[in-house]
Amino acid sequence: MSKTPTILVLNGPNLNMLGKREPAIYGTATLDEIILGLTAEAKKSGVDIMHQQSNAEHELVEAIQTASRNNNIKGIIINAGALTHSSIALHDAIKLSGLPTVEVHLSNVFAREEFRHHSYISAVARAVIVGAGSDGYHFALQFLIKLPNDKD
Ligand code: DQA
Repeated sequence: MSKTPTILVLNGPNLNMLGKREPAIYGTATLDEIILGLTAEAKKSGVDIMHQQSNAEHELVEAIQTASRNNNIKGIIINAGALTHSSIALHDAIKLSGLPTVEVHLSNVFAREEFRHHSYISAVARAVIVGAGSDGYHFALQFLIKLPNDKD
């Protein structure tokens, strides 16, 4: 099995619709375009990207549990979409994984409806990036690449 350090990128509900979904809020890039750009950038630093998008909470929980058993995974970038505001299961899974996790939101959730102001992810995240559009995923990647390695 490859020993290449790998960052798991998780995207939650409705993020598969990026490009079509409220472009004034979320931008015009598709999720495939964002992940392609991120993968190319990671490669320059000798890092792999593993990406999973799911509309189902339990699949995201399972992806985090699987990542925590994989020594190549050095960190997680997660945009949990609306599950950010409701999922204690994702909070628990991230905490249990012990993996440095960066929470990303394309939009500035604090400038939007009040129900988007609370995140169950933030308390267990190493860093939170909101409102930077798809650049937020790149900032998260650079942050994780620079982190000293907790697991080795
Ligand atoms: C989002 C913000 C969430 O409130 C929303 O439900 C999303 C996308 C963002 O990236 O800005 O699905 O996580």
